[in-house]
Order: sequence, then structure tokens, then C-alpha cells
Amino acid sequence: MASLSGISSRTPLALFFFFCCCCCFAATASAQLSSSFYNASCPNALPIIQSAVKAAVAKERRMGASLLRLHFHDCFVQGCDGSVLLDDTSSFTGEKTAGPNNNSLRGFDVVDAIKSKLESACNQVVSCADILAVAARDSVVALGGPSWTVQLGRRDSTTASFSSANSDIPRPDFNLTDLISAFSNKGLATTDMVALSGAHTVGQARCTTFRARIYNDTDIDSSLAASLRSSCPRRLDPHRIRHLLLQEPVEQQGAPALGPAVARRRLHRLASELLRRELGQVLR
Ligand code: HEM
Ligand SMILES: *[C@@H]1O[C@H](CO)[C@@H](O)[C@H](O)[C@H]1NC(C)=O
Ligand SMILES: *[C@@H]1O[C@H](CO)[C@@H](O)[C@H](O)[C@H]1NC(C)=O
Ligand SMILES: *[C@@H]1O[C@H](CO)[C@@H](O)[C@H](O)[C@H]1NC(C)=O
Ligand SMILES: *[C@@H]1O[C@H](CO)[C@@H](O)[C@H](O)[C@H]1NC(C)=O
Repeated sequence: MASLSGISSRTPLALFFFFCCCCCFAATASAQLSSSFYNASCPNALPIIQSAVKAAVAKERRMGASLLRLHFHDCFVQGCDGSVLLDDTSSFTGEKTAGPNNNSLRGFDVVDAIKSKLESACNQVVSCADILAVAARDSVVALGGPSWTVQLGRRDSTTASFSSANSDIPRPDFNLTDLISAFSNKGLATTDMVALSGAHTVGQARCTTFRARIYNDTDIDSSLAASLRSSCPRRLDPHRIRHLLLQEPVEQQGAPALGPAVARRRLHRLASELLRRELGQVLR
């Protein structure tokens, strides 16, 4: 995946605000949730999730960001009910291929691994929606951010909504008015929207999601826009493609001389690899 550090920097400040707002997600959900929900039925639930998240983030830091975003995309579509995890069935098309999610959401394999560990420890007790909520918190902690208490006891949905995922998750081309209303539709205030946006302190974005902003818009920090432009080309440059195709294969030091057929094959492979990378960056 040709992803770029469009949203980067590491200040944990914004994560602090994220913490404050997490309570809002929970508050709109329900009053009978409880942080000790699994104390008797699955006492190791939280340590199991925490150690799996820690390991996943140690292996790849970005995974912390990806798990945090999964919780957000779950919650914005008919509540925090695990529906984002459901694959398509004959009776519904799930949320995984909706615009904001397709080729973008990550971390499903980490969640699956946590779920199977929890099933071994306590069969059919811990909901997937709760796993996402706890994993989001544990991710922020593993990345060096603050902690908070997660209310538990969410129930998993048996259905999902492709169309709500498309309509309810805010889009990258939204203006301020659009953003405020997308959050207001979920019972969240403007201050919640601003604070929760601090989640973008961590993680990455694909060129395709911010290209229009960095070439067209004037309401963006100009040096940030300039630095992003250097890694997110405006469009496919025919000269660049030609250059890629003409590039010579790099020989290993000490490698035996190659016959022309082998050299041509290598050249072809190298060119198509570079081209694929370039195309991926521009077209995604
Ligand atoms: C305010 C409205 C929001 C918009 C328009 C928005 C949009 C986006 C976009 C376009 C990306 C990049 C996706 C890609 O290139 O594949 C992204 C990434 C991300 N978003 Fe948001 N987002 C918003 C709010 C949030 C919230 C509330 C959270 C969590 C609390 C969040 C967490 C993240 C994270 C952590 C990433 C990086 C994921 C990774 O590296 O895998 N976002 N967001
Ligand atoms: C639930 O377990 C946690 C962690 O072991 C403990 O701190 C908390 O006091 C327990 N709560 C109840 C209501 O038993
Ligand atoms: C999701 O992405 C795949 C792979 O890029 C693509 O083939 C498919 O059409 C996309 N699905 C939707 C619903 O856009
Ligand atoms: C925001 O965008 C919407 C369309 O998405 C448009 O109708 C509205 O006029 C815009 N508002 C501002 C203040 O730019
Ligand atoms: C800039 O905006 C125009 C008009 O909205 C759009 O057609 C064009 O693709 C945008 N440029 C980039 C680089 O996205």
C-alpha cells in the first residue's frame, strides 16, 4: 500500500483530548455499560487484549493508529456494535468496502487474533464491539498517549450497513460545516469533533485522500502543503514513466555478468515494479 505520512507528528497532546471525548461515545451508547462487565465472566479479558495490542504496536507502530480508527468507523455507523468487522453475506453488503473503508481500514487480522484468544479463554463472552473499544484505548496507551476507563457490555450487531458507512462517516473533502454536522448527527458537539480529530496525531493517509487539498486549497498551512506535495504527485507524469521504463537494472557487486535475455527480463521486472509503485501512489 502506497501510504504516506500525510497526517503525522507525534505530540501526545491531541490524544489527551481524545481521552476526554471518549466518554461522549460511551455516554450516548447506554447507562448500563460497566467497566467491570467482564470481571466475573472473563477476568482475563482486558489483559489478553492489552498484551495483544502491545505486541501488535511493537511490531508495527502504525497498527495503533489503525486500531483506533477501526473503533471510530465502527461507532459512526449505527453505534459501536462491531458491525465494521462483518464480511459481506448473501443478505447484506457490509461496511468493509464502503468508500471510507475500502483499501483503507487496517487491523482486522489483529482483531481476529484477539477474538480467538478470548474465545479460548472464555467462550462467547466478550463482544467484538468491546474488543474494538478496548483495543482503541490500549493502542493509544501503547503509542505513549493517555489512558482512560472503557465502559463495557456492548452487544454485537448481526448486520451491517454499507450505505450508512458511506453516508455517516465524514469524508476528507468535508468543509467545517459538513464536519460539525456529521458529528452533531451522532450527538457529538463541535468541541468533540475538534478534539477527536486529534486522533490524526498518529497514523498515515493515502495520497488520494488529500491530493485535492494540497494542490487547490488556500486554507491549509502552506509549508505542510508543500512538504506533502513532494510525496503526493498531482498526476501521473508521462516523462517520469518513460524515465522509469528506461532505467537500467542495478547489478549486484560481484554478480556474474548477465546475458542479454536475463538482463532484459530483470529490466522489465524492475520497471514494472517501479511503475506499479508510482501508479499506486497516484491512482489510489
Ligand atoms: C473529523 C472527521 C474525520 C475525517 C474527515 C477523517 C478522515 C480520515 C482520512 C481520509 C484518513 C486517511 C485514510 C486513508 O488514506 O486510507 C484518516 C485516517 C485516520 N483517522 Fe480519521 N477522519 C476523521 C476523524 C477521525 C476520528 C474521530 C478518529 C479517531 C478518534 C480518526 C482516526 C484516524 C486514524 C488513527 C487514522 C490513521 C489510520 C492508519 O494509519 O491506519 N479519524 N482519517
Ligand atoms: C473489576 O476488576 C478490576 C481489575 O481487576 C478491579 O480493579 C475492579 O475493582 C473490579 N470491579 C468490581 C466491581 O469487581
Ligand atoms: C473495493 O476495492 C477493490 C479493490 O481495489 C475494488 O475492486 C472494489 O470495486 C472496491 N469496492 C467498492 C464497493 O468500491
Ligand atoms: C460546505 O460544503 C457544502 C457541500 O458539501 C456546501 O453546500 C456548503 O455551502 C459549504 N459551506 C461552506 C461554509 O463552505
Ligand atoms: C483541484 O480542483 C479541481 C476542481 O474542483 C479538480 O478538478 C482538480 O482535480 C483538483 N486538483 C487536484 C490536484 O486534485
